[in-house]
Amino acid sequence: MSERRTPSPQTLIFEKGYEPQRSEGAAVPPLFRTSTFIFKKAVDGKRAFELAYGLRQREQGESPALIYTRVNNPNSEILEDRVTAWDGAEAAALFSSGMGAISSTCLTLLRPGDTLLFSDPIYGGTEYLFRKLLPEFGIRTVPFPAGATEAELAALAEAHPGTRVIYLESPANPTMELCDVPAARRVADRRSRAGRPVTVLIDNTFLGPIFSRPLALGADVVLYSATKFFGGHSDLVAGLAMGKASFINAVRATRTIMGSMSDPDTAWLITRSLGTLQLRMEQQQANTARLVELLRNHARVKRVYYPGLAEMGARQVALWKEQCSGAGSVVSFDVHGGEAEAYRVLDAVRHMRLAVSLGGIETLIEHPWSMTHADMTPEQKLHAGFGPAMIRLSVGLEDPADLVDDLARALDAA
Ligand SMILES: Cc1ncc(COP(=O)(O)O)c(C=O)c1O
Repeated sequence: MSERRTPSPQTLIFEKGYEPQRSEGAAVPPLFRTSTFIFKKAVDGKRAFELAYGLRQREQGESPALIYTRVNNPNSEILEDRVTAWDGAEAAALFSSGMGAISSTCLTLLRPGDTLLFSDPIYGGTEYLFRKLLPEFGIRTVPFPAGATEAELAALAEAHPGTRVIYLESPANPTMELCDVPAARRVADRRSRAGRPVTVLIDNTFLGPIFSRPLALGADVVLYSATKFFGGHSDLVAGLAMGKASFINAVRATRTIMGSMSDPDTAWLITRSLGTLQLRMEQQQANTARLVELLRNHARVKRVYYPGLAEMGARQVALWKEQCSGAGSVVSFDVHGGEAEAYRVLDAVRHMRLAVSLGGIETLIEHPWSMTHADMTPEQKLHAGFGPAMIRLSVGLEDPADLVDDLARALDAA
C-alpha cells in the first residue's frame, strides 16, 4: 500500500480536537453550554488548578482538565484545535472579540518602558489601543508606513532600543497595503537579545487563513477578528491568536484573568462555519474580481485599492506575489470629489448594506473616514494614505451580476 497522504486543512477542520465517543457518539460536536465542570475527586480539582496556575508542568500526554468556562470549555478547545490547521500554528486561543485577542496578546508581551512599532494605517480599535491606551501604561507606540522597507523598519527599531513588538496589519485597513513580513522578522531577530526577544505580531484578518499564512513567513503570532471570515455570517463577535504553544499558553493565562474568553455558543457557531470558510472566501474573492473590474473602468472612480493591482505600485505587487495566494474580498476605492460624493454612492446602493465590518456573506459598504477610522485626526488619516472620498467594500455571496448592477447604478447616480 502506498503511504497515507497528509490530510489538507480542509479535511482536518472536520476532524481535529473531537472524539465522538466522549460525547455519546454525536457525529458533530455538541454545544457544552455550562459555566463549570465537575471534578471526579478532590485531588483532580487540585491537580487541575495546579496546571491552570502554572504551579507544575504538564505530564506526558496530560491534557488540562476542564475547570470553568472562562478558563476552558470543550467548544472553545475543539475550535482552537481546528483553526490551527490552515496557519500551521502549534496552538490557538479563542477570544470574545478581535480586540480581546489583540489587547490580551499585547498585554502578555509589553511592560512599562517597552516600545511597540506598528504599521499605519491600522484598524480603528487597534489604533485607539496603540495611540491612547498603551501609552497611558508607560508603553511607547510608534507608527511606521504599512509598506515600509526593511531599511526603514531597521532604522526605526534602532532609534527605539526599547522595541519589544513589531505589530503588522496586512493588508492595512483601509488602504489595502501589504507589510513586508520577512523583513519584519529579520529586523526583530537583529534587535533580539537573550531573554529579551522582539516579537512579530500580525493581524491577518483580511486575507487569512486562506490567502495569507504569515507564520510561514516569519511572524510569531497571527491575530484575527474571527467576527469576520471565520464566523462569516455577521452574527457573532470573536477573536483568535495563534502561534507557538508556549506563547499561546501565556496568552491564555492573560485571557483568563482579563476575562476576554469567548462563550460556548460562539465557539460552536465558528466551528460550524469552518467547513465553508475556504469555499466562502474563494467565492467572495471571485465576486470581488467582477467589482474590481467595474471600479477600475468607471469614470466616477479615481483610484482602486486592492492587493496585487498595478496601481498599488511595483513594490506592493512584488510583496503580494511573494506573500499571498489571493487578493481576498475587501476593496477600497476613491470617487472623484470628497465626502459628499462618497455619501451619494453609499446612499444609492440597494443590494449592498451600509454597515461596518467585513468578511460576512452579505456585501457591506462603508466610509472609513467618518466611520471605522473616525477616531483618527484628519491629518493622521491623510498621512496614512486615505481621504474622505474613500469607500470600503466587503464583498459577499450575492449574485455578482446583481452586485455589479447595484454599484454601477449607484456610481452613475452620484
Ligand atoms: C483588521 C481588523 N482587526 C481587528 C478588528 C477588531 O475585531 P473585533 O471587532 O472582532 O473586535 C477589526 C474589526 O473590524 C478589523 O477590521
